[in-house]
Amino acid sequence: MTQTLTIPRPDDWHLHLRDGAMLQAVLPETARHFGRAIIMPNLVPPVVRGDQAAAYRDRILAALPEGMAFEPLMTLYLTEDTDPEDVAAAHASGLVKAVKLYPAGATTNSASGVTNFDNVRPVLEKMAEIGLPLCTHGEVTDNHIDIFDREAVFIDRVLDPIRKATPGLRVVMEHITTRNAADYVASQDTDLGATITTHHLIINRNHILAGGIKPHYYCLPVAKREEHRLALRAAAVSGDKRYFLGTDSAPHTDPNKLSECGCAGCFTATNTMSLLAHVFEEEGALDKLAGFASENGPAFYRLPVSRETLTLRKSEAAAEFPKKIETGDGPVTVFDPGFPVYWHADS
Ligand code: NCD
Ligand code: ZN
Repeated sequence: MTQTLTIPRPDDWHLHLRDGAMLQAVLPETARHFGRAIIMPNLVPPVVRGDQAAAYRDRILAALPEGMAFEPLMTLYLTEDTDPEDVAAAHASGLVKAVKLYPAGATTNSASGVTNFDNVRPVLEKMAEIGLPLCTHGEVTDNHIDIFDREAVFIDRVLDPIRKATPGLRVVMEHITTRNAADYVASQDTDLGATITTHHLIINRNHILAGGIKPHYYCLPVAKREEHRLALRAAAVSGDKRYFLGTDSAPHTDPNKLSECGCAGCFTATNTMSLLAHVFEEEGALDKLAGFASENGPAFYRLPVSRETLTLRKSEAAAEFPKKIETGDGPVTVFDPGFPVYWHADS
């Protein structure tokens, strides 16, 4: 017997689409199931100003195959030179839905990010005033801090001080990977949400390092111990509206992943909805999937829930996903959960 689950069309609140040939190849993988996505601005060069975001949005829409509907929600990349008035204008026009904070050097293409947080105070204050959310890559970059501790230290040293100094600033802690982050969200009253990726609900650090190194499981923030994965699962299925889906689907070509200094990022756009149905069913929480993937994100971003739907069907045959997506830049490996999945997502 086929079991079905119909939810409002989901959105992805943290997505990397890249540009050019890569954009062309990966966009349909997301647009097949998702209605909207918060588009990360870490291109080379980064999307810093409103005019750059407008041009990028046009390139995304031009790459969308005929017959597919998808709304890119644009973000600006925060630098120490960002002009608060440019940010405010891009928000007022409806173009930009968030500003992204990368601590300089934290992850892929983050060299133009922030080193001295005092230098972005005027932008943060303007954002608090106009209600524009700040999306944070929550890791310190200090080489003295162990990579597995960088998220927890960021909360204490950077995030909490910024939030205390900027009342009313609305913040999304993106791709949280620790119990510390989930607990911090739960402990706060207002103006704070968190995205959780599909892969961090599935893998812990053993998947990356035990029995041979698995570059396709390497992403940032890096997956942590099992206790943290379990805390993320508990948060995702809790029904608490402050946690919502941001896949952080981050395509890199195989040569770039499988090199001496491999890139960080898991590509999950293709199979995310099937994997999430599997995870939520495992947790006995299929009834919470609509909240996590389709309702809590719009609530935080003050946007309507989609009036369209997505149907997931569980059958006896395992879902088959391509191992790789071919792109003009080279093949991109699709995230392999390491177990069969019986949920199929309609397109
Ligand atoms: C992202 C990318 O490749 O752009 N990589 C990743 O491991 N998640 C950047 C990011 O979100 O950190
Ligand atoms: Zn990302």
